[in-house]
Amino acid sequence: MVPLISNSHTIFRLITAAHTIHTVYNTSIEYKEPQKMAKQVFFIAGASRGIGLSLATLLSKNPENVVIATARNPASASGLQELSKADNVHVVTLDLNNEKTYETAKADVLKISDSIDVFIVNAGISNAHAKVLDTTKEEFLSHFTTNTLGPFFLLQTFLGLVKKGTLKKVIFVSSAAGSVSVEPSYVSSAYGISKAALNYGARQIARDLSEENFIVVPVHPGLVGTDLLFNATEPFLKSNPHFKDFLGPENYLTPDQSAKGLVALIEKLKKEDSGKFWNYDGTEVPW
Ligand SMILES: NC(=O)c1ccc[n+]([C@@H]2O[C@H](COP(=O)([O-])OP(=O)(O)OC[C@H]3O[C@@H](n4cnc5c(N)ncnc54)[C@H](OP(=O)(O)O)[C@@H]3O)[C@@H](O)[C@H]2O)c1
Repeated sequence: MVPLISNSHTIFRLITAAHTIHTVYNTSIEYKEPQKMAKQVFFIAGASRGIGLSLATLLSKNPENVVIATARNPASASGLQELSKADNVHVVTLDLNNEKTYETAKADVLKISDSIDVFIVNAGISNAHAKVLDTTKEEFLSHFTTNTLGPFFLLQTFLGLVKKGTLKKVIFVSSAAGSVSVEPSYVSSAYGISKAALNYGARQIARDLSEENFIVVPVHPGLVGTDLLFNATEPFLKSNPHFKDFLGPENYLTPDQSAKGLVALIEKLKKEDSGKFWNYDGTEVPW
């Protein structure tokens, strides 16, 4: 496959390339309609909306899949409520910023299954767009808490269930904004640093669990039209006016398009792919 990032200008290129969605999407993503296969249990943390809801929706189309989808506040997650009418979708309450909910979520999951085949941490925030030296401690800490520590402690809580799974796939939804080597051409300090730390930890976890046949990867979902992107646009453009032309709707994926790419990628992941940073279209992202 054609690498999405080829030189050091990159995030710019990464995003630009993500925008040539028709080309990239049609050539690179080999999503196939669900086929009958052994029952697989998917856990998705952060499925109330955006990419997480699209992942849950797509995965639930295979009746052999069991989809456990979390939300901080299920009652207000109308899309997920609707989806949970399907027999194979279960909604569990979880707040990454509240570790007490990890244990209650685990107890709820155990009522559904004692194993998880694919463990996806998709939840994340991006709401600070100042330069590093202008970012507050609170902004750094809130991003680090949700985007970095949340996924690690959540996996600690659920590790026993993933060990019992047949696939042992752990997917951290990260961002190319967390790539150090591609030197982002936009300001994304608190967010980017939290995702860089997530990537670092994911790589270490991949190594630490490799003898137990785990496949652990951070993934970039593309530039996707979600609340995270829309809510960030105005403050983001203040510090990144050169990005104005790139934030039009023609330049980003829909959540469903991103989910299709991610599901195809997750299905294809093999042991040798563990510990690498993957783009939604199946190409590798440089660290
Ligand atoms: N959109 C993009 O262009 C883009 C690009 C690169 C990476 N990503 C990554 O993709 C992932 C999904 O983002 P999205 O674009 O789909 O954003 P989104 O539409 O804003 O959805 C974010 C999800 O994260 C959940 N969440 C946030 N804080 C949480 C917490 N403390 N505990 C539990 N859940 C929490 C939200 O739940 P609530 O509904 O309860 O708030 C929601 O389900 C994130 O990790 C993001 O960093 C997105």
